[in-house]
Amino acid sequence: MITLHDVTLTFPDGDRLITAVDRVTLRGENGVVTGITGPSGSGKSSILALAATLIRPDAGRVLIGDGADAIDAARLSRTEATALRRERIGIVFQQSNLLPSLTAREQLRVMAELGGGSRARRSAVRAQADELLEEVGLADHADRRPHQLSGGQRQRVAIARALVHDPDVLLVDEPTSALDQERGAEIMRLIARLTHERDTATLLVTHDLVHRDALDALVTVVDGRIARAPARVE
Ligand SMILES: Nc1ncnc2c1ncn2[C@@H]1O[C@H](COP(=O)(O)OP(=O)(O)O)[C@@H](O)[C@H]1O
Ligand SMILES: [Mg+2]
Repeated sequence: MITLHDVTLTFPDGDRLITAVDRVTLRGENGVVTGITGPSGSGKSSILALAATLIRPDAGRVLIGDGADAIDAARLSRTEATALRRERIGIVFQQSNLLPSLTAREQLRVMAELGGGSRARRSAVRAQADELLEEVGLADHADRRPHQLSGGQRQRVAIARALVHDPDVLLVDEPTSALDQERGAEIMRLIARLTHERDTATLLVTHDLVHRDALDALVTVVDGRIARAPARVE
């Protein structure tokens, strides 16, 4: 579970401040894809960056986990936040951000090498790599490099990579923006399936709602604020 509680984020803009996120409260439950939608510039990516512990809010809490065990990421040092992110958060950006020289399998395995942690954990991550490539339908493409994959396949590798350390929270920013509608729908269905199977709390930013069917809940952001109470998508 991830909870943003009364979170505000400002950016300096000349001699004033832009309020990118304005007292936002939202929750991502385990096993649920929560869509975050809204116009361009409304603060969607900023919300995701806060959830990812990549930036710290001016005020408010970013709680990873549940109840008394929840960790407030807004209070962690940079080093602690990095460790938390490595262990518990998976991130998929708009572009797949794969390393050009690595094969699909290596993109996932490198997470095991970079991830630190115990030897047992690193070997578990390596073992998961092939299993995840299979789950995203790329078992036959494990030895291909990004330029040998289509846009949709690259996004699948990025999704598998984000899940390889078995995070509690999955954060996805506009995963379909570079894809045609059919490929986009496949990626959304894949994210939904993996979220349900792996019980991740998934926050997914999307500026358009053609793929709304794949969302379990939906939050609308306008001018940095939640515009409508979270609603279950029927
Ligand atoms: N690093 C930054 N520095 C200054 N302003 C920023 C930065 N990132 C975002 N903003 C501003 O914050 C607001 C929200 O941006 P963003 O979260 O990227 O919106 P969205 O993802 O919905 O398009 C916008 O006004 C944007 O210009
Ligand atoms: Mg954005």
